[in-house]
Parts: sequence; C-alpha cells; structure tokens
Amino acid sequence: MTEIRLPEMGLVVLVGVSGSGKSHFARRHFTPTQVVSSDRCRAMVSDDENDQSATGDAFELLHHIVRTRLRRGLLTVVDATNVQTGPRQQLLRIARECDVMSAAIVLDVPEAVATARNAARPDRDLPDHVVPRQRRELRRGLRSLQSREFKRSYVLNGVEEIDAATVVYEKAW
Ligand code: CTP
Ligand code: MG
Repeated sequence: MTEIRLPEMGLVVLVGVSGSGKSHFARRHFTPTQVVSSDRCRAMVSDDENDQSATGDAFELLHHIVRTRLRRGLLTVVDATNVQTGPRQQLLRIARECDVMSAAIVLDVPEAVATARNAARPDRDLPDHVVPRQRRELRRGLRSLQSREFKRSYVLNGVEEIDAATVVYEKAW
C-alpha cells in the first residue's frame, strides 16, 4: 500500500490522462476547497466544462487561485491532466514564487480503463486519439517529473494501487 506523505501546506499536482480518476481521487482525499480543478475553472469562465476555446482563460483563473491560496498558506491540489511538462512547469514556478513545497501524484491506469470510463461519462465526449496521446505525453515526461520537477512524487500504478493509497501529512518535509 502506498502511503502518500504530503506537506501540511504546499502544492500538490495530480497527473493522469482523462478518465484516470483524478477528480474521484481528489474528492476522496481532500476537501472541496483544497482542490482547484481546470474543469471547474473552464465552467466558471464559459458555462461549459468542455468548451476548449475557454482553456486559456480557465488556466489563467486556475493559476490565480493557486497562487492566492499558496500565498495564504493553504494546501492546494491541482486537478488537471498535467501530463505535459509545460503546464507542470507553470505550476512549479508559482510554488517557487510562493516558496512552498511541491508534490506530484501520478495516477497511471491502463488505456482500456480510462477509455471505458470516459465512454460511460455523460460529461465527456473525447475523440479516440486523446487518451493515447495523453499517455504518450505522460510516459515521455515521467522520468524528469520524478527526478527533477517535484520535491516528491508518487506514481500509483493501476486501479488497485490507486484505490489502496492513503494520504498522511508531515510537518518536516
Ligand atoms: N471512476 C470510477 N472508479 C474509480 C475512479 C473513477 O468509477 N476508482 C469513474 C468516475 O466516477 C468517473 C470516471 O471514472 O465517472 C472518470 O473518473 P474521474 O475521476 O472523473 O477522471 P479524471 O481523471 O478526473 O478525468 P478528466 O481528466 O477527464 O477530468
Ligand atoms: Mg476530472
């Protein structure tokens, strides 16, 4: 069983393809206000969680909320795919600006799991190529994510490991 050890205050970045279970994981382990979701931000600036034209504005809002919460000393969990290095770097820059620790939690599920879950969702209608592309992006950056980007990272492999993981908080980190 993986024990995910997090700082009491800092940035936590969830990483995983669409359908990997990030929002589900966030609901299980964190309070609603600790979680900043790119989908919620997209909905707030467009009334539609799937409106891709709102992505730029949605991330501007997400970054603003993350920065404000970190500056105020609050644990902040980012619920977005974060499979690409660029978006992770933007979040890490904000954490550095605010002088706080950063951790990543990678949810790695088989492609078939993510695809089947997404197919069953009324709120998602993703073209077939999206999940495979996100998996490739994740694979490509995984080593640097683990070795260079975050102070600590946890990679949870498969549904069972994700479901069994627990979160504990540590003062000295
Ligand atoms: N789900 C599930 N059992 C899990 C995790 C997720 O049945 N252990 C279901 C959720 O209820 C949801 C779907 O799988 O209907 C996708 O999970 P979600 O947490 O929404 O995935 P995300 O990674 O947040 O996907 P996205 O990036 O598209 O927001
Ligand atoms: Mg989600």
